[in-house]
Order: sequence, then C-alpha cells, then structure tokens
Amino acid sequence: MKNIIVTGANGQLGMEFKDLAIHSKFNFTFLTSNDLDISNRSAVDSYLDENKVDVIFNCAAYTKVDLAETEKTKAYEVNANGVKNILDAMSEDCIMIHYSTDYVYQSLSGIAIKENEETYPSNIYAVSKLAGDHHILKSDKKAIVLRTSWVYSSFGHNFVKTMLRLADKFDELKIVNDQIGSPTYAKDLASASLTILNVLFHSNDDAIFNKVYHYSNLGTISWFDFANEIFNQSNIEISIKGIPTSEYPTPAARPAWSVLDCSLVSETFDIQCLPWKESLKICLQKIQSE
Ligand SMILES: NC(=O)c1ccc[n+]([C@@H]2O[C@H](COP(=O)([O-])OP(=O)(O)OC[C@H]3O[C@@H](n4cnc5c(N)ncnc54)[C@H](OP(=O)(O)O)[C@@H]3O)[C@@H](O)[C@H]2O)c1
Repeated sequence: MKNIIVTGANGQLGMEFKDLAIHSKFNFTFLTSNDLDISNRSAVDSYLDENKVDVIFNCAAYTKVDLAETEKTKAYEVNANGVKNILDAMSEDCIMIHYSTDYVYQSLSGIAIKENEETYPSNIYAVSKLAGDHHILKSDKKAIVLRTSWVYSSFGHNFVKTMLRLADKFDELKIVNDQIGSPTYAKDLASASLTILNVLFHSNDDAIFNKVYHYSNLGTISWFDFANEIFNQSNIEISIKGIPTSEYPTPAARPAWSVLDCSLVSETFDIQCLPWKESLKICLQKIQSE
C-alpha cells in the first residue's frame, strides 16, 4: 500500500485531505506543523529517512499574506526553504504535489492566465511562493506545482466563513469589486490532487513532472460577486456595496486579475473543473450542518 504524508495537516487543504482519506485506498499520515516543521531541515531529513514515504501532499505554507510584508524571513523559510528541504530529502521514487498561488501573476490581459504567462508577484507572500515553485521546476525529483486561487473550505479561515461571521454583526458590508478571479473549494482541490496522483503513478513520461499546472473552480467573478452568492445561497438578507480596491487598502497588494486557465490540468489528468456556484453550495451545506 502506498504511504502518503500530508504536511500542514491542520490547514484548509490538509483538513479536506483528512476528510477524503476516510474512503481512500492509501495509507495517509497527517502531519501538523507541530509534527513536522518543513522549515526545519534536519527534522525533514530525519522524517523522510526514517519513514517510507511514497507521496507528499505539501499543504504546509506560510499563508498570512498581509503579515508576510513584515515577516519576510518567516515566509521564505516555509514557502521557499521548506519546499527545498522536502525536495532534497525525498527519495527518487517519491512524488510531491505542491501548492502555489495565483498571486504570482499580475496579468492585465483580461484573458485566463496560462502556466507559461510571465510571473510578476505582487507581494512578499507571492515572491516567497514563487521561490518555492522555482525549486520544484529546477529539481530532478518527481514533483509538480499546482497553482490555485481564492481557496475556501468549511475548515479554517477563509472569505466564505468571514462573510458569514460579518453578516451576523453588520447590516451592511462593503466588498471589493475590482479584483477578479475564481474561487476554489479546497475539497475539489484535494479530490483533483488524488486524480492527478493516480495519473502520475502510472505515467512513463518524465516530462509530466517539474511543471506548473493550474487548478481552480470555473467562473470569473469579483469578491463582491462571491459575497453576493454566499448570502443568496445562505438566505441572508444584507446590504452589500461594491467598492474599489483603493477604498480597502491592505499591506500586501493583490492582483486585479487572477483567473487561471485550467485547460492543461484538464487535458493532462482528465479532470473536470467544477463550476464555482455548485461547489460553494456543497461547502455552505457542510458549514450549516456543523
Ligand atoms: N488560502 C488561499 O486562498 C490560497 C490561494 C492560493 C494558493 N494557496 C496555497 O494553497 C496551499 C494550501 O493553503 P491553505 O489555504 O490550506 O493554507 P492554510 O489553511 O493557511 O494552511 C497552511 C498550513 O500550513 C501549516 N504550516 C505553516 N508553517 C509550517 C511549517 N513551517 N511546517 C509545517 N506546516 C506549516 C500551518 O500550520 P499552523 O497553523 O500551525 O501554522 C497550516 O496548518 C498553500 O500552499 C497556499 O499557499 C492558498
């Protein structure tokens, strides 16, 4: 039986893997940041030395986008050095699926972004994630980068849960309407990762590795549209007003356009990306049932 480890197991994506693992044929081990700190080189070396690991879903990341502006070293230690630590320590046969972000792009084209688009990270978090991606692209180990966007889940902290919390407190909300992207339900991302893994296991083509692939749900919306749909589907009556980014300044700049073209992942791994409203419905049902 294949042994899979999930790093950053207490995060949104890590928790979704835990949910999926219940019905899986694989032997999963879930490692929180306390169990394995990926920025600790000797800890990573020892873990991968002492345990037979066939697959790593690297969900560990420093994701505090605004705080990263003042915690650059911490962001780098996890998002760049942490990835290198894993690559250096993993065996030749081990497969890693690593996750990265739409924030590495700053396209102005209004066209869905392909993997070969030039990167132009808009903040320190994105610079640190891009450095991690580059380690994978340069490596000869079996690893891929899945870049995703606007991740939410019934677990952890995210936009969907923030909107539901704020609706309890306020009668009116102002939401940015000039940042355009595609939400991604972490459960869909975890599920797609298992499909991808299955193809990676059986592929004889080394060129499938050390590449970037995009994965998000389908749809082109603003944060305002997203909030509107969250409230509609939850039958919450609240007044929401669209505002430009300039009226909601944050320490870290975000790209105005980050819609990912997911055709490469669909073609390579035979994956159907799911429409964002359908996935949101499933997540909201899960949140309401808890
Ligand atoms: N969230 C988004 O909107 C979004 C968008 C695009 C891409 N992504 C990428 O998608 C991936 C999954 O994101 P997510 O939303 O699941 O993130 P998340 O909920 O913030 O989870 C990240 C996890 O990583 C752990 N972690 C932090 N430092 C670590 C270290 N040194 N060693 C081991 N674990 C560590 C954290 O543990 P502690 O809580 O104990 O620190 C946390 O459990 C990340 O690579 C992220 O960059 C996310």
